[in-house]
Order: sequence, then C-alpha cells, then structure tokens
Amino acid sequence: MIEVKNLTKSLPNGRKLLDGISFKVKKGEFVGILGPSGAGKTLTLRCLNGLLKPDSGSVIIKSENSQPLDICKIDKRELRRVRQKIGVIFQGYHLVKRLSALENVMIGRLGQISTWRSMFYGFTDAEAEEALKALDQVKMSQMAGMQTGSLSGGEMQRVSIARAIFQSPTLLLADEPISNLDPSNAKTIMKMIKPLSELMPVVGVFHQPEMTAKYCTRVIAIKEGKLIYDGDPKLSNKRLEEIYGEELELIEQQEHMIPVTAK
Ligand SMILES: Nc1ncnc2c1ncn2[C@@H]1O[C@H](COP(=O)(O)OP(=O)(O)OP(=O)(O)O)[C@@H](O)[C@H]1O
Ligand SMILES: [Mg+2]
Repeated sequence: MIEVKNLTKSLPNGRKLLDGISFKVKKGEFVGILGPSGAGKTLTLRCLNGLLKPDSGSVIIKSENSQPLDICKIDKRELRRVRQKIGVIFQGYHLVKRLSALENVMIGRLGQISTWRSMFYGFTDAEAEEALKALDQVKMSQMAGMQTGSLSGGEMQRVSIARAIFQSPTLLLADEPISNLDPSNAKTIMKMIKPLSELMPVVGVFHQPEMTAKYCTRVIAIKEGKLIYDGDPKLSNKRLEEIYGEELELIEQQEHMIPVTAK
C-alpha cells in the first residue's frame, strides 16, 4: 500500500504547487489522477517515486515483507534501493531506441543486479527467459529482437509495460501512458495495465476521463495543487466541469480569438 499524507511544495516566491495532497492506494486498486494542465499531477507522481522531495508531508510505502517506510525521509542509498521496486511508465516511453525490445525490458532490472554483471549486461538465461515472458504478457515476444526505435508508439508502450513487469515492482506509476496513442492502442494499454493492480497498487495520470471511468477502480482529481475529488471513477458532467472548467473556458476564449487575430 502507498499512503500519501499532506504533501506540500512551494516555489521560493511562495506559489504553492502542491497544497496538502493526501490519498491512499492499496493493492487491487488502479487509481487514475485527473486534472487540468499544470495542476500538479506529475509533481505528485514525482513525489511518489522519490524524485521530488516535498517541503512537508510523507509518502509511506507498506509492502508485505518489509517495514513501512517514508520515502521522503530516507537517505539517498535507501531511496535508490526502494526505487528499484517502483515501476514507472512514461508518456515518452523512455526506452533506448538502439537496443532491442528484450534488452530494454532487461534494463528494468539493471539496478538490482551486481555492478560487474550489469557492466556486461550479464543476465542469466533464466532472467532472459523471464524478460521474454514479460514481453509475451504484453503480446510482444514475437518482436523481442527488433530494434526498439523501429517499433510503433503502441508497441513501444507495451515494451515499457513489460519492463515494469520484469522489475516485479511493489508499486506501479504511469504518467500519461496513453497520451500519444490512438483510441484503439490506448484501450489495449489500459487493458494491460489494469490487471497489474492485482499484484501491486497502480497510480496513473490521465487526460481521458472516459478511459479512467472504464478502467480505473478510483479517480482522484487535482486542481491548482489541491486534491478536489477522490471517489467513484465515473464522473458527472458537473464534476468534470468543476475539474476542468477554467481550462475549458480558456480553450473557448482562444478559439474565439482566432478569427479576430486572423483578420
Ligand atoms: N521545477 C519546477 N520549477 C518551477 N515550477 C515547476 C517545476 N516543475 C513544475 N512546476 C510547475 O508546477 C505546476 C505543476 O506542474 P505539473 O508538471 O505537476 O503539472 P501537470 O498537472 O502534470 O500538468 P500536465 O497535465 O500539463 O502534464 C506547473 O505550473 C509547473 O509549471
Ligand atoms: Mg504532467
């Protein structure tokens, strides 16, 4: 389980980027974070994997075989160890394009093997087989040997998921994993991420309320650094307006301005 308590982060000029964010995610849950651009979704996710230290608050990870620990309070060395067990899927895939799909999956575990072995990508046959199984789980084993740079966006995102699976993480985070994909590929990716929540808590940032309504078990919404909703993934139009209202208005204004400036 991951428990986020009262996260705050401000800029030196006093502007609050995160303002008292609190929520819990258990194994079995796939939580979607929604909110307008600049709301603080990515910052929240960065606090969850220890990439960003909040000014105050805590991120407590409780897993079955270890003591709960607050990743905002541990030293760098321990943080590195904890982060090896946090799977991350990004919008931009973050894959090494010149390496094969299989090699990219194996990279997911580089931090967990000894330095001399990692220097030579010294994975055992059993590990290679396991990586292949992870690719098979996302229906990519046929393309294991292909150079990742030649894969389509949807295929690359499936390799990212396989890499996270191979890491056997205790927590899975995803920042806009479907933003670059067409609706059909987006659905495929959501269908692949959802069952992983049976093994670990899954938290993802999305810009598609219709997708989170369908695949997430819960939705939270962040606006101007504050958590403004935590509940049923199916949101009413009124709720959507509360979340995105000002952004929608801004878009309308911009559209209105186009003919004026085009004159
Ligand atoms: N390193 C930084 N220094 C200053 N401001 C930052 C920094 N990182 C983020 N911000 C600001 O914090 C706010 C929240 O950023 P964040 O990346 O979390 O937004 P987001 O909700 O993920 O938006 P999007 O949907 O566009 O990805 C934004 O206004 C952003 O400009
Ligand atoms: Mg973001």
